[in-house]
Amino acid sequence: MPEPSFLTETRTGYDTIAAAYAEHFAGELDSSPWQRAILGAFAEIVGAGEPVADIGCGPGRVTGFLAEHGLAVRGIDLSPAMVELARRHHPDIRFDVGSMTALDISDGSLAAVVAWYSLIHIPPAARPGVLAEFHRVLRPGGRLLLGFQVGTEVKHHEEGFGFAVSLDFHRILPEEAAASAEAAGFTVDMRFVREPAGWEPTPQAALLLLRPN
Ligand SMILES: C[S@@+](CC[C@H](N)C(=O)[O-])C[C@H]1O[C@@H](n2cnc3c(N)ncnc32)[C@H](O)[C@@H]1O
Repeated sequence: MPEPSFLTETRTGYDTIAAAYAEHFAGELDSSPWQRAILGAFAEIVGAGEPVADIGCGPGRVTGFLAEHGLAVRGIDLSPAMVELARRHHPDIRFDVGSMTALDISDGSLAAVVAWYSLIHIPPAARPGVLAEFHRVLRPGGRLLLGFQVGTEVKHHEEGFGFAVSLDFHRILPEEAAASAEAAGFTVDMRFVREPAGWEPTPQAALLLLRPN
């Protein structure tokens, strides 16, 4: 079966902007206490040494943060250029090219999955399949952390960091994400919504979900 066009366009877009994205967001966690608080609490809840995948890891800034907080984390991204940068920035962490729509990870093998601003590139119709994949790779008691922009629109970008791209950003309502995750078998542990800061055009949300025993 041919690859869905949303995957091809997202891969091409992020391959094109990978270096500029990595440079732009290099220090962003340092100036974002909320992100550090959520990711730090997530690392503490999951527990040091536990196997975790950061899916849609980009250049690996969150992967690196979680590794510094003791998790046995690996990164996976659709964009080979992003994976190459992540390997260069974090030579001690494993990074692989792959898609959250069909993960090359065994059933029940992970303590946690993070999809930090990456589920936003999955059209709503494909979201249940991705949540089912996250559920499949988590062991009972495992956790899923999602970060995303709040809203109902699809923001289409024909330009990113001065380059021509074709990228869709699907904003998501927290209640909609929670309902989709519950339909996939998760329960909701934590919902977080904050107002936009600085350049951000929308409120930002995080959900921590549990795969029950
Ligand atoms: C906005 S960036 C976020 C990167 C990183 N999580 C961060 O916070 O810096 C979105 C990333 O998700 C990746 N991505 C998009 N769709 C994906 C998919 N189907 N599977 C894996 N990664 C995907 C993109 O290649 C890109 O690196």
